Amino acid sequence: MATIHPGTGEPVGTTARERSGAPVSARLGPSAVASVDRSHGEPAGRSITVAVIGATGYAGGEAVRILARHPNVRIVGLVGRGRDHESIASVHPHLATTGLEIDQETPDGEAVFLALPHGAAAGLVPDLVARGSTIIDLGPDFRLRDPADYPRWYHFDHGATDLLAEAVYGLPELHRVELSGLADASTRIVGTPGCYPTATLLALAPLARAGLIADLVVDAKSGVSGAGREAKAEMLFSEVNENVKAYGVNGHRHVAEMEQELAWLSPAPGANPGAAAVDFVPHLIPMTRGILSACHVRPTRAVGQAELDALYADAYKEEPFVRVVASAPSTKHVLGSNRANVFVRHDARTNRILAIGVIDNLVKGAAGQAVQAFNLVHGLPETAGLDTLPLAP
Ligand SMILES: NC(=O)c1ccc[n+]([C@@H]2O[C@H](COP(=O)([O-])OP(=O)(O)OC[C@H]3O[C@@H](n4cnc5c(N)ncnc54)[C@H](OP(=O)(O)O)[C@@H]3O)[C@@H](O)[C@H]2O)c1
Repeated sequence: MATIHPGTGEPVGTTARERSGAPVSARLGPSAVASVDRSHGEPAGRSITVAVIGATGYAGGEAVRILARHPNVRIVGLVGRGRDHESIASVHPHLATTGLEIDQETPDGEAVFLALPHGAAAGLVPDLVARGSTIIDLGPDFRLRDPADYPRWYHFDHGATDLLAEAVYGLPELHRVELSGLADASTRIVGTPGCYPTATLLALAPLARAGLIADLVVDAKSGVSGAGREAKAEMLFSEVNENVKAYGVNGHRHVAEMEQELAWLSPAPGANPGAAAVDFVPHLIPMTRGILSACHVRPTRAVGQAELDALYADAYKEEPFVRVVASAPSTKHVLGSNRANVFVRHDARTNRILAIGVIDNLVKGAAGQAVQAFNLVHGLPETAGLDTLPLAP
């Protein structure tokens, strides 16, 4: 199924970034969002067979942790390079009681989650699609609609460009109707968003829909698990501890998704001039999990706090995982959960809007969001397997 743009009604192709139009949820209004059938009449006890490729990594391990407790999932296989009936306890001791094993071969599953470095999923997905599986890719290989974005931002040529037009960007708060629509499609591919774009887009979506972004700086912080489990010298404790550093300056890869989706949200071409070239500065900070994205916005017109409060309340009042909070949010408030907290303030003195989003990068920023999208594609309750409270302290 091609992704249909809600504004134009056209299939989204390589020029999607140039197209305008609010997301379906914005167009239809909150009452229409509430009326979206999220259950599809599936029998409550149905089990869907699921495999996870890249189960040895952080995102893959988190997917296993969530899926192992999902009431409608039966894990039929975990895949890791060079593994042969290896107990999951040897790579993820916290998952020992699942009794699962990791193998090299990919079993047939109704759904396959992939948590691999960029470029690796694109090579595997055509075969998995041919087998009839739903693809839930946690990496970037199916997030970007324009094939030219892969060599530009990720320095590889995408080998399955024909499938890009079939994929849906898996941020349910923006693309719920399309994700649910995949249920009836013969090709079902979800490109689960990156962690920084998730926090940033949830913080900015109401402003983008209202055409309020004249100028934008996104200043974000991430814990070190965002960089994955593979050993890297700059991720050593002695390098990260008691340190804060900016990285990816002038072109972090996640900018591509931010610009793509902010253009999608825009009510008309050029309505958000500040979103056309996102100025994004990520920082690595000494914590394990969490992302905080602080978005500094110069508005396109005069705006006040009451209008912003109404925009955000309207955008998120039906959302099961997004909460608009009244004081500056903290990553600890969402730790270990699929929740996102969003905050917005207008500063009348500087005439800037500060919009902040916080998430757990491995849950709402990766595996939890992937399961949320999987639930929609398979007609399950959207919150199935995800109704966990955050962890504290
Ligand atoms: N970490 C996050 O917070 C986060 C958030 C959102 C999205 N993601 C995305 O999720 C994907 C996985 O990230 P991660 O953080 O889980 O990384 P990771 O901890 O380094 O895990 C990478 C996984 O991929 C496997 N792998 C590595 N190179 C491979 C190759 N050439 N072919 C096949 N398998 C290979 C690894 O297996 P071995 O055990 O054999 O090395 C491991 O299972 C990435 O695309 C990342 O961008 C991550």
